[in-house]
Amino acid sequence: MLIAGNWKMNTDLPDGTALAENIAAGIDDADVDFSAVDFAVCPPSVHLQALNEALDGSPVALGAQDVHAEEEGAFTSDVSASMLTSVGCTHVILGHSERRQYYDETDADVNAKAHQAHAHKLVPIICVGEMLDQRKAGDATSVVQAQLEGALEGLSVDSADELVIAYEPVWAIGTGESATPAQAQDMHAVIRDDLADRYGADVAAGIPIVYGGSMKPWNAEELLSEDDVDGGLIGSASLEAESFLGIAEEAVGVLEGAAG
Ligand code: PGA
Repeated sequence: MLIAGNWKMNTDLPDGTALAENIAAGIDDADVDFSAVDFAVCPPSVHLQALNEALDGSPVALGAQDVHAEEEGAFTSDVSASMLTSVGCTHVILGHSERRQYYDETDADVNAKAHQAHAHKLVPIICVGEMLDQRKAGDATSVVQAQLEGALEGLSVDSADELVIAYEPVWAIGTGESATPAQAQDMHAVIRDDLADRYGADVAAGIPIVYGGSMKPWNAEELLSEDDVDGGLIGSASLEAESFLGIAEEAVGVLEGAAG
């Protein structure tokens, strides 16, 4: 299970550092054994270097929220893949719906960035998900399939640890209204099938497909219990160590239940 926090444009550096330290300490001090959970936090890019130090020795991986598709150059305000790896990043969120919505990011942009991430051994966390009107029109599946088609074009994946897919229905992000477990499972199964066609069933079985959109400690268990839900990409509930780790605790419970 992958429990990843997307901090978006929240926290200043002192608050972000304290949050990272509280998460690391919370994992260390907990009565719960978190060893079966993979953790990542994706803070604002100006925090990355400091958090790389703050998280040193903890099991929490560091991710960025975006990357530019080019190596370097005249792209004012953008951040390159080598900049990210040089401050300890191992993951990068790509194609978040807020990037698609506010910056007109297309599937082709996401694809170029995914290739660039892979070239630098960054694991892309590729976000897909339909808008509410698309779901109401019965188009949710075809929208997500088209996003995968565009984003994964030509991207070779030889092992399951080279890619993460986040299913984030846009209507569930920041609204307090998560998808139902059945809605999440249905779409995650569609995504798994798509990945199996591309990369083979064995690799596809291990690629984390995480759910995002108003995941909270109180609804995490039912979402994470679904067969094809392999974790969460968590926005607002990742901004407090207690709620972020509360979701991780639910993940441990689900894993222990599954192990019988
Ligand atoms: P949310 O955000 O948990 O606040 O809904 C999730 C996301 O956008 O990744």
